[in-house]
Amino acid sequence: MCGIVGAVGFISPKEYVFKGLKMLDYRGYDSAGIAYFHSGIKIYKDVGSVEHLLEIVPEDISADIMIGHTRWATHGAPTKLNTHPHLSFNQRICLVHNGVIDNYKEIKKFLLDKHYSFYGETDSEVIANLLEYYYLENNDVIETIKKAMSIIKGSYAITFFTDDIKDTLFVLKNASPLVIGLGKGFNLVASDASPMIEQTDEFIELDDLEFGYITKKEVKIFNKNGDEIKKEPIHKDIELISHDLKGYPHYMIKEIEEIPQTVNRIISNYFQKGKYQFDPELIKDLQESDHIIFIACGTSYHAGLVGGRYFEKYDKSASRFIASEWAFHPTYPGQKPFIIMISQSGETADLIHCLKIIKKHNLKNLIITNTGGSTLDRNCMYSLLLHSGVEVSVASTKAYVAQVTLLAMLAASLDKDIKVVDDLRQSLDVVYDIRDHYKPLIMKVGEEIKDKKSLFFLGRSFDYFLSLEASLKLKEISYIHSEAIPGGELKHGPIALIEKGIPVIVFITDPDTASSMRGNIEEVKTRGARVYTIATKSLSRPEDTIVVEDYAYYLSSVAISSIAFYLAYYVALAKGLNVDKPRNLAKSVTVE
Ligand code: AGP
Ligand code: GLU
Repeated sequence: MCGIVGAVGFISPKEYVFKGLKMLDYRGYDSAGIAYFHSGIKIYKDVGSVEHLLEIVPEDISADIMIGHTRWATHGAPTKLNTHPHLSFNQRICLVHNGVIDNYKEIKKFLLDKHYSFYGETDSEVIANLLEYYYLENNDVIETIKKAMSIIKGSYAITFFTDDIKDTLFVLKNASPLVIGLGKGFNLVASDASPMIEQTDEFIELDDLEFGYITKKEVKIFNKNGDEIKKEPIHKDIELISHDLKGYPHYMIKEIEEIPQTVNRIISNYFQKGKYQFDPELIKDLQESDHIIFIACGTSYHAGLVGGRYFEKYDKSASRFIASEWAFHPTYPGQKPFIIMISQSGETADLIHCLKIIKKHNLKNLIITNTGGSTLDRNCMYSLLLHSGVEVSVASTKAYVAQVTLLAMLAASLDKDIKVVDDLRQSLDVVYDIRDHYKPLIMKVGEEIKDKKSLFFLGRSFDYFLSLEASLKLKEISYIHSEAIPGGELKHGPIALIEKGIPVIVFITDPDTASSMRGNIEEVKTRGARVYTIATKSLSRPEDTIVVEDYAYYLSSVAISSIAFYLAYYVALAKGLNVDKPRNLAKSVTVE
């Protein structure tokens, strides 16, 4: 997934484009580039960060139009040649692209037959040339885009300009996001609204298979047949799309500390005047279904594991699947299954694959996502937004807690069980307590484990689900190998790995399993493990590392997940790693 920015008529396009690229590099960050028009098309691009790009771009740039791109390579290695913007063979079209062109090989062959040649391996360069090919043929950009869109298959948000229309940016979109920001005397475009919020609060979101152009004075949008369409500008809540670090050194810690407001926002959106506020049709469909199938990836899958238990609590049978597994071996337990997909980004390719299967089988479905306007938000039957505000750090934190919160409320709404809302509110006291009193202690544990090669998290039931998430988080940003083991499974294999000094982090918050967990602690201690325990007060012992106030134990992922998040954060910090942008990972995984 890449980030796109573009400006027409803006007084300082370079400033806007660079600031925008920095905000969007959460979408991908292996290389970056810009292009503008100044007595010819000028392109600066290179492998590496936006900061590096800034070093190689001239100080003063005078340009009326400019486009920029931060790339997360899907086709072709992250090399300078494959970095966007891409220039067509005859240097007529300069383009940036976010997405994946499914039929680029066929198009490339067509163009090779027409004696085009290519300097790189991207699908995007192929599209620059396809556009050029038709532009040379008909000398009409609108006709050119229409023709190209009738051929291109796949996902694309594209912004381009030509060498002869120097005051216009052209845009086209399918299944990748593109937003136009409306200004006075200028207009802007970007992959999401965040880079534009200092300039405007009026936006036009392009829908799939729409295209258009922006000049400094006008914005015109067309449908795929070339008919002009009128789109009403929308206003966005600046607070929710802001990338301001608000004084925090990293997005991850800022986002961890936004957990309470995230939970409160979900409560106020979905629970008013003592009643749950979910779409009655959705609730009816959930009630009438005889089985709930959760499908998600990574952290969102961990939220699905918790969610499954919540629905089971209200007598709904449930299964949970990792999207990339289900996509290739779909199963449909029950006579009337209902699918709940969970995705922070709403753009995860594995889930989009599942959605195609779900639609083919006409199954009722819901997406729980943080990203309004995303592919899954737009294409699922029902969508519930998390309203968590943009999550920039690759390691998901507040969105995970939001997913669990929303699932707890959704399941409870089937039985009109409103005590869950009180439990959620009460669990926030624990979150505040951890934030205010336990960070130094967690940092100390981080120091102790930072040089370890491997460690374990242990828990049972909800604490096991949390252990999975804790383990993923630590792996992702501190690069320490870790595994989450259900306490009861220890003796069935993993205990063979316990040796002197190996850290074992244990969660004990469930009254039903607390004594078994204490047994597990003895098993690993006997074999030399260095044990750290996190327990609730009523289940605690004097030797425990962290003791928090009691809370409704089914809400572990809300109440105490921040301990795991802070731990991963402090370990990565102590190791001098890039907390917000861990190696090899992208915020949204838009390729299978
Ligand atoms: C979370 O910390 C990870 N970066 C990753 O596992 C993520 O949760 C997964 O890729 C799913 O993403 P989604 O929620 O946007 O679908
Ligand atoms: N497919 C394009 C490339 O590899 C864009 C990648 C993306 O949007 O992630 O450069």
